[in-house]
Amino acid sequence: MVGFDGRHPLHRPRRMRQAPWIRDLVREAVVTPADLVWAMVVHAGPQPRIPVAAMPGADRLAVEAAAEAAVAARAMGIPMIAVFPNVDGSLKDPEGSEALNPDGLVPRVVRAMKKAAPEVGVMVDVALDPFTDHGHDGVMIGDRIANDETVERLCRQALLLAEAGADVIAPSDMMDGRIGAIRGALEGAGHRDALILSYAAKYASAFYGPYREAIGVTTLRGDKKTYQMDPANGAEALREGALDVAEGADMLLVKPGLPYLDIVRRLKDAFGLPTLAFQVSGEYAMIKAAVANGWLDENRAILETLTSFKRAGCDGVVTYFAPKAAELLRP
Ligand code: PBG
Repeated sequence: MVGFDGRHPLHRPRRMRQAPWIRDLVREAVVTPADLVWAMVVHAGPQPRIPVAAMPGADRLAVEAAAEAAVAARAMGIPMIAVFPNVDGSLKDPEGSEALNPDGLVPRVVRAMKKAAPEVGVMVDVALDPFTDHGHDGVMIGDRIANDETVERLCRQALLLAEAGADVIAPSDMMDGRIGAIRGALEGAGHRDALILSYAAKYASAFYGPYREAIGVTTLRGDKKTYQMDPANGAEALREGALDVAEGADMLLVKPGLPYLDIVRRLKDAFGLPTLAFQVSGEYAMIKAAVANGWLDENRAILETLTSFKRAGCDGVVTYFAPKAAELLRP
């Protein structure tokens, strides 16, 4: 009998779990603050922080508060902040014109952050949904999301954000061909070091629900299934990843996070590019709701999920828990 002398097992995996020192020694995946990207929603109003009902603790921050948060990120060892805007409803229109305003909320936040803490990376979402009155990531022609017309706008949005000082351009729109088009636009304008993090595998997910409240999308006309991926598909993520790599992406991202760890592993193994996952609003809300009911230990749940992302192959995790996690991970 293999591994058994008749009376005793030869292998006792529990030997290596008997004391903290040996568990520390053999641990595979380790999370540090340097693995975290702080997901942050910002607004243009005067109040420093505005709570989001479904996301307790992840408030919308005013421009000045966001700049202070960048200073805090630096102190905590968090390398990057991802900015998402809550745009006033009066500025929204069918084309998402406000996305192309060089003095809009996001460019102002980027400039304020880079001034306050230039050492902290700033990542910006490239998509039109915070700016359109129908809530879609692209422009609509009739009842269709028009791919190429949208890509043309996304290029202008990406350029304007790079001009404002954004370090990482992160297209989250899932239009075809946008990575190549944006890469071309950036190179053409001399932004040779602008990084592109592609949301290569972004699924049409129920887990974005609280985010829509956070950024103020009150009515989404229809759904996003003509551009975001079917949760049933894995091979399709590899095809999307291959296109984005060929078109010039520096990094890939999978979104949502925990339900899609298999996709993280497959992309990482296939391309070997820095691969991140987004622990989205609904994942944050689930943990927070269970904690509020006394059903989960918050600190342990946060660290366990982050460790799982690392084990699956993530180089970093975009998460609303970043400041809290960095606090827990402080040596
Ligand atoms: C859209 C975008 C979404 C999120 C980030 N960028 C939502 C969507 O696609 O509907 C979701 C983030 C979250 O849920 O935390 N461009």
